Amino acid sequence: MHTSVMLKESIDYLNLSKNSIVIDCTLGYAGHSGAILKKIPNGFLYAFDQDSEAIKKADKKLKQISDNYKIINKNFVNIKDEVNGKVDAIIFDLGVSSPQLDEDYRGFSYHKDAKLDMRMNQNQELTAYKVINEYSKEKLVDIFKKYGEEKYSSSIAQGIVEKRKEKKIETTLELAEIIKENVPEKYRKKSHPARKIFQAIRIEVNDELNVFEKALKDALKMLKKGGRISVITFHSLEDKICKRIFNEVSTIPKELNNLPIVPDEYKPKYKIIANISPSKEEIEINNRSRSARLRVIERI
Ligand SMILES: C[S@@+](CC[C@H](N)C(=O)[O-])C[C@H]1O[C@@H](n2cnc3c(N)ncnc32)[C@H](O)[C@@H]1O
Repeated sequence: MHTSVMLKESIDYLNLSKNSIVIDCTLGYAGHSGAILKKIPNGFLYAFDQDSEAIKKADKKLKQISDNYKIINKNFVNIKDEVNGKVDAIIFDLGVSSPQLDEDYRGFSYHKDAKLDMRMNQNQELTAYKVINEYSKEKLVDIFKKYGEEKYSSSIAQGIVEKRKEKKIETTLELAEIIKENVPEKYRKKSHPARKIFQAIRIEVNDELNVFEKALKDALKMLKKGGRISVITFHSLEDKICKRIFNEVSTIPKELNNLPIVPDEYKPKYKIIANISPSKEEIEINNRSRSARLRVIERI
C-alpha cells in the first residue's frame, strides 16, 4: 500500500477547474492522479511512470473514476515530447513508492535481502549491481559524496573494492554489511550507515537529479498563464534543485536590481506560491512524509 504524501495540499494548490489539462509526472499508485481525475470531469490527465507494475495497478484504479486520461509508460524526462501544447497544472511526487521499497526483489531497501537492483524502470541496463561491481573506486567515492553526502565515502568505497576482489557483491545485505564494517563504530549508532549510500546508488542508477532538473525546466515552459506546478521532494538534494530553479525564474536578475524601471522582458514570468512541510498530524500517521517538502509555482 502506498499512502500519498501531502495529497490535499499539493492538489488544492493546483487550482484545478472542471476543464483543466493536467500532467502527473509520477503516477505511482494513482493517489494524486485519482484525486485529480475526480476534479476534472471535462478535462484530461496525462500520467507518467516508468514502473510497469505501478502502472497496471494505477490503471485499474483510474478506470473506475473516468476515462479522461492517458498513461505514458516512460521516464518523465520525455514530458516535452510526449505532451503537445500547454497545460494548466503539473505535479511531481518524487522518489520511490512504498510498494517499490517494500518488494524485496526490487533491491531498494537495506533491511531486506535482495539482488542489488534499484531500477525504477525494470528494462534499463544500469543496475545497482553494475554500479557496485564495475565502477572504479574514484567513481564510487564521487557518487557517495555527491548523492549521499556521506563523510566516510572514501573508506566505504575502499571496502567495496577490496571485497569485490574476492567475489562479486550480489545482495543488498552483503553491501549493507560492507558499509557497516567500513565506518567507525560510534557512527553506526547514529543512524543506519547504509542509508546515505543506498540513497546515492539509487540516484545514480535512475539518474534522478539530472532527469528531474531537465523535466522541471521543460515543465515550466509547458504551463499556460495562471498554470501551476506542485513539487513534492523527499531529500535535500532534490529540494535544492527545485528551490534554485524556482528562484531563478521568479526573480529579476541581480545585475538589474538597481534599475529604476525593469524592462518587460526581464520581469519574472513566474511567482512562488508555497513552500511548506507536512503537518505534525500527517507525519504521525505516515512516517515516510517526515522529510517531504512541497513547493508550488505559478506562471504569471
Ligand atoms: C512517490 S511515488 C508517487 C506516488 C503517487 N503520487 C501516489 O500518490 O500514488 C513516485 C513514482 O514515480 C515514479 N518515478 C520516479 N521517477 C520517475 C521518472 N523519472 N520518470 C517516470 N516515473 C518516475 C516511480 O516509479 C514511482 O512509482
